[in-house]
Amino acid sequence: MAEKFHSFGRMLYGGDYNPEQWLDHPEILKKDIEMMKEAQINVVSLGIFSWSAIEPEEGRYRFDWMEERINTLHENGISVFLATPSGSRPRWMAEKYPEIRRTDPFGRRGLYGGRHNHCYTSPVYRREVRRINMELARRFGDHPGVIAWHISNEYGGECYCPLCQAEFRGWLKKKYGTIEELNRRWYTSFWSHEYNNFDQVEAPSPMGDSCVNGLNLDWKRFVTDRTADFARWEIQALRDAGSEKPATVNMMYYFDGLNYHKFADVVDFISWDSYPSWHNGPEYATAMDTAMYHDLMRSIQKKPFFLMESCPSATNWQPVSKLKRPGMLEAASLQAVAHGADSVQYFQIRQGRGCSEKFHGAVIDHYGGNDTRVFREVKRTGADLQLLSDLAGSDVRARTAVVYDWESRWAMEDAQGPRNVGLHHKDTVQKSYIALRKAGFDVDVIDMEQPLDDYQVLAVPMAYMFRAGFEEKLRAYVARGGILFMTYWSGIADETDLCFLGGTPHGLMDVLGLRHEEIDALYDGEKNSAVPVKGNPLGLTRSYSCENLCDLVKVTDAQVLFTYGEDFYAGEPAFTCHSWGEGKAYYICGDMEQAFYDDVYAAVMEQSGILPAIPGLRIPEGVEVSTRESDTAVYVFIQNFGREEAVLDLPGDLELIFGESREKLPVYGTMVLAGKKQSQEI
Ligand code: GAL
Repeated sequence: MAEKFHSFGRMLYGGDYNPEQWLDHPEILKKDIEMMKEAQINVVSLGIFSWSAIEPEEGRYRFDWMEERINTLHENGISVFLATPSGSRPRWMAEKYPEIRRTDPFGRRGLYGGRHNHCYTSPVYRREVRRINMELARRFGDHPGVIAWHISNEYGGECYCPLCQAEFRGWLKKKYGTIEELNRRWYTSFWSHEYNNFDQVEAPSPMGDSCVNGLNLDWKRFVTDRTADFARWEIQALRDAGSEKPATVNMMYYFDGLNYHKFADVVDFISWDSYPSWHNGPEYATAMDTAMYHDLMRSIQKKPFFLMESCPSATNWQPVSKLKRPGMLEAASLQAVAHGADSVQYFQIRQGRGCSEKFHGAVIDHYGGNDTRVFREVKRTGADLQLLSDLAGSDVRARTAVVYDWESRWAMEDAQGPRNVGLHHKDTVQKSYIALRKAGFDVDVIDMEQPLDDYQVLAVPMAYMFRAGFEEKLRAYVARGGILFMTYWSGIADETDLCFLGGTPHGLMDVLGLRHEEIDALYDGEKNSAVPVKGNPLGLTRSYSCENLCDLVKVTDAQVLFTYGEDFYAGEPAFTCHSWGEGKAYYICGDMEQAFYDDVYAAVMEQSGILPAIPGLRIPEGVEVSTRESDTAVYVFIQNFGREEAVLDLPGDLELIFGESREKLPVYGTMVLAGKKQSQEI
């Protein structure tokens, strides 16, 4: 069943719930249920950090309170995502089995404390986790109130203990076969770093090797594989104890430590924890940053994802714990839904009294009443989700995509190169993303391993490392009519970070009609500009500024659309286009300002006749348009993240199913329109 899971058939609404902190307050536990029902909460994540509450001493279980809670929640129409408790282990366990505590890159084993800091290799920890997971699955796996498994919590981090080091060596041996091959792929003749055998390999460390980029990269890949293997191990324990309910791991915002794509086949559905810093600059910028990550999460499995955590008011860990202004919670929650989420969940239902999260926002605060601003807004969002419940299971079927590849990013940022004070990779990816969204398109955010068949327009920004076969995929994509936007600093190195010989972007010079020759790095604050070539086919007439990186290319047969305005390369190509096969390949040479991307994408879309969800709609500043589709209907979400009321001129054939007016959208307002499904063939 596992891979086939698609939807729970309804929108879920709820959050992390820690009744184990309130077991001596029955009146509070009762109140929790009342208030959850009042807010139309229908799911909680239970047991995330409850290991010591269910097993206070080795082998002595206390599941009574958990059973009582699950039963009571179920009787009240509230389902449970039951967590495996491995995110934080009991003190007795860490004391008895020191090997489960993580070792740092200096070889120091941690003391007991914190959370998320166990060794993923330790056979003892694996045994203990399997045991407790099986106990949970046997007791609650068939409970009608338990609808899914919440595996651990926010996996992350690295362990450098001897067990992990040995595992790493085995992993390398499997990958490279011989030490000679490893030496070749890692280029270890540099500084006399050749290995004589696999036993000599150590994980990268500030007190050891850190200059072998291939080693650094493979270590990161290994950490991802180890963690995914641990997740698999956890889920297998549940399956072996007879539970087939779907399982997820909650992921983090642009988390650098794990390539989340590698979890696509491990979990049944994707979920993530979103904590944007709202009101720190224009809300639209925060909305776009969050939107891109929603889309990345959705694109991992290309089906609905779940917003596993978000904050109903202010967090307590951001540098400034700003409140959400009235309406922001609803807008942010519905934005997740607009991008394909089938849930809105919070951290947390009830605010704790002590320890480090006691001031973190919650549905129910220390005061404990329902007459708070936050609770009213939570309630309102709950009502919204009820109204939109039929949308559960509908997908986003984007025809445009941007590539954000973890492994390429790891390699690019580890390589000392043109700018060691900031390459701005994410910002560069976001510029294409934002331009496409401003033009009204839904966008997938994919990695280099994912298929390109669904797309008409594809942005490949700063794709430094070409993972095996990527250039072939891009060639096939352009050949069959795809429009490609590639930027500077792409196709430079192969999978083990060996630079390509014979010219770059590797394997695409004929497709792009040019070759990268040199790259100029600009000091912070330094600018160049891109000047339009008169009569360019996109009809663009204004100049744009660029910064950070300026690629100097040698054009063979691409058409030059813009040239640089300054420096010794003034007049050299800054933006080019080449028709190849049935498609077109654009090359953006410099780190252009956002307006360049906005204008270029809008012009290209228009010229190519590629239509957004609502053709002809002028999207006001700050407004976002997103689409979900079922087999029978299209749902268009229009949200105002601007600072002024937005006025819209919508075509008449879409029915307003959510929101007050088709013409006006207040600040933080959302409207949802439904229409008959229209398919657009590639
Ligand atoms: C998440 C974590 C939660 C809670 C929350 C606070 O990253 O999963 O357990 O700590 O942050 O914002």
